[in-house]
Amino acid sequence: MMYLNVIFLIILPIVFTTNNAEDIYSLETCNIPEEYTLISQHEFQQRYNNPKQSITPVVFRQVPINKQFLHLTQIDSILNRYGNKYITVTTANTYSYKKQQVKLNDYIHSQQNPSSKIKRWGNETLYWFGDDLLDDQYWLTQILRYYKSPSYTVDDFVHPSVTFGMGGRGTGVPFHFHGPGFQQMISGRKRWYLSVEKPAFDPNETTIQWAIDQRWKTKQPFLYECTLNPGDLIFFPNLWWHATLNLDFAIFLSTFLSL
Ligand SMILES: *[C@@H]1O[C@H](CO)[C@@H](O)[C@H](O)[C@H]1NC(C)=O
Ligand SMILES: *[C@@H]1O[C@H](CO)[C@@H](O)[C@H](O)[C@H]1NC(C)=O
Repeated sequence: MMYLNVIFLIILPIVFTTNNAEDIYSLETCNIPEEYTLISQHEFQQRYNNPKQSITPVVFRQVPINKQFLHLTQIDSILNRYGNKYITVTTANTYSYKKQQVKLNDYIHSQQNPSSKIKRWGNETLYWFGDDLLDDQYWLTQILRYYKSPSYTVDDFVHPSVTFGMGGRGTGVPFHFHGPGFQQMISGRKRWYLSVEKPAFDPNETTIQWAIDQRWKTKQPFLYECTLNPGDLIFFPNLWWHATLNLDFAIFLSTFLSL
């Protein structure tokens, strides 16, 4: 009996954490409205950005991406051409972003082979959002020319700016908010969590840790959540809280709209 208890105590925590993380990495459920074709600006405004009726996120499935752009963003192509470039990475916590320069090669390799241990702290996790502090990203600007960002505008937010990002499985950003915009997946899957009210979370904790510990165990406001596959495009409304979690090594583009 004693013997069984010992085994039970040892096995239980291991099974629970790994199972949970693996379960999260295979989540497919989606409670966000979905569109299967590109609708008009008027329809977009009516359905998803209508203050009198509803403002909600929306996921456009399988939005075609320019072939040349897809070609240029193949990971081998990026490594071959631009591996020696330096990029600016940021810690993935909500309030205190610390920045650092790393070689693109090193970043990609570390993200493609993440340690199997779940990273608990966002302030100890580096992530590339597409920031450029070095003015050494002419190469990226050249690639981005081929990307056609979504043509929707949101009220007076009419000026798009596009950023490119990539991150390994289990990376992402914890809850934060800013102006409205879009994000499209180029490769890999990403899970999104959004809420109009502030969710319960620790700003220093990674999204994967939050998804394991707090998503269901802490009282949360209504959360929209969805897994985006390559090609899928999500709209995040102005000032909505949102957190992201890469379920695979993922490449993605964000379009932020400003006034
Ligand atoms: C990250 O945050 C955690 C929790 O707040 C803290 O214990 C840890 O020391 C921080 N790490 C660094 C490198 O600042
Ligand atoms: C989060 O981490 C930062 C920097 O590591 C630290 O200064 C801050 O106190 C931490 N906040 C919380 C809520 O733990």
